[in-house]
Amino acid sequence: MKSKATDTYQEYARKIGDRKVLYEVVTKKFNIQVALYPGSHIDIAPSIVIPTVTYMDNFKGAIRFFNDIDEIEEYIEQNKEYLDKSEISFLGQDYTTPFDIKEVDLIISQYAGFVGQATKQALKTGGILLCNDSHGDASLAKLDEDYEFIGIVNSQKEIETEHLEDYFVLPKEKSIDRKLVEQKMKGLKYKKNAENYLFRKV
Ligand SMILES: C[S@@+](CC[C@H](N)C(=O)[O-])C[C@H]1O[C@@H](n2cnc3c(N)ncnc32)[C@H](O)[C@@H]1O
Repeated sequence: MKSKATDTYQEYARKIGDRKVLYEVVTKKFNIQVALYPGSHIDIAPSIVIPTVTYMDNFKGAIRFFNDIDEIEEYIEQNKEYLDKSEISFLGQDYTTPFDIKEVDLIISQYAGFVGQATKQALKTGGILLCNDSHGDASLAKLDEDYEFIGIVNSQKEIETEHLEDYFVLPKEKSIDRKLVEQKMKGLKYKKNAENYLFRKV
């Protein structure tokens, strides 16, 4: 019989769409071993392709979900696509408050605010920020000198690293208004958008 956490996750994965392929292409391209996912809610797909993942969320439903860590670990053990042992941890806290983990190879930012800004101290130099621009996190990373814009993931879940100058371009050559992004917590309407963006911490 299926476990409760497994049922909850599978229902969630059906709703948001399977993200495994997205995490897989990024993991393969950059040889990711250790990741941090602030604002993860219950999206545990990263653990299917990344051996060590720390999830972080302060929503009580997410905290309740991760209380069933044994069931989650069992599910990942049965579905993971790597040989190493899987290590899953969860921090049930606000990601803007201090936390102490070893530096990671990848930070995942999906629909959860300014993750790339608030948690970049946990990303090793040379590490990757995978983010979308739903809440403007990609726009802020583009303006941030700590990050270099190195690619996008298109809707076919392929990484593209060429013609990056076509992105983050506003009509009438306007520049990105950082304050507006922060206030509205929303990405801007650029001439060309990608589903996900890739930045390297420099
Ligand atoms: C819209 S959901 C997205 C969940 C997941 N990233 C996904 O794409 O399926 C946003 C999640 O971010 C969490 N979140 C937002 N701000 C947060 C913060 N400051 N600290 C911790 N979690 C936060 C919320 O609790 C929520 O679970």
